[in-house]
Amino acid sequence: MSSYDAAADESLLAALFTDAHTARSFRDEPAPIEQVRRAYDNARWAPTALNSQPMRLDLLASPESRQRLAPLMAGINQEPVIGAPLALIVSADLALDKSMRELGASEQMLQRLAGSMEMRQGLARDSALIQLGYLVLALRAEGLDVGVMTGADLPGIDAEFHADRPWQAIAVITVGHGDDDAFHPRAGRHEFDAVTQIL
Ligand SMILES: Cc1cc2nc3c(=O)[nH]c(=O)nc-3n(C[C@H](O)[C@H](O)[C@H](O)COP(=O)(O)O)c2cc1C
Repeated sequence: MSSYDAAADESLLAALFTDAHTARSFRDEPAPIEQVRRAYDNARWAPTALNSQPMRLDLLASPESRQRLAPLMAGINQEPVIGAPLALIVSADLALDKSMRELGASEQMLQRLAGSMEMRQGLARDSALIQLGYLVLALRAEGLDVGVMTGADLPGIDAEFHADRPWQAIAVITVGHGDDDAFHPRAGRHEFDAVTQIL
């Protein structure tokens, strides 16, 4: 049960939501792996279908690794990847049934998954995307700026980085501290009434 008092922590809500903004260029300042580890340790409590937790991460901490990634990004996304102190390739593990065994999944479910690539793919992508969203929030809670990008040759990223494992890239996240030019003007957001029906 949650004991959190939302009204008591407006500044955290601002850091996670209202002040949070996609960063597109970064200061020359590290994004420590320890902070990403802490962010993951928080984000992993997100709900996922069947508690499958299919998100996997490549941490591109070296400039050489980000140079390998850059040509696989859409033109506008290349500079952020090269300029960020850290880039994450976020993937969905298509062999998620293997790791779900450790998490206590039922034998019946594991067999159904093992027999259907379509089911594994759907489950893995849906829940990895949910985990990605939580990871963005957790990174922001560490005081880091992030940029999520899907403008990339995702199959090409798999060929370059995942030849030895069944991980399917779904996005790239740049991580660091935004510089003075990092943030475009804030784009609008839908109002509650425009996107809801109360039944
Ligand atoms: C799934 C996803 C894919 C995105 N892909 C790109 C991208 O390829 N390039 C880019 O510059 N921004 C990308 N963005 C960032 C969005 O354009 C940005 O979050 C949105 O315009 C709102 O801007 P704000 O975060 O600054 O408020 C992506 C965001 C998400 C969540």
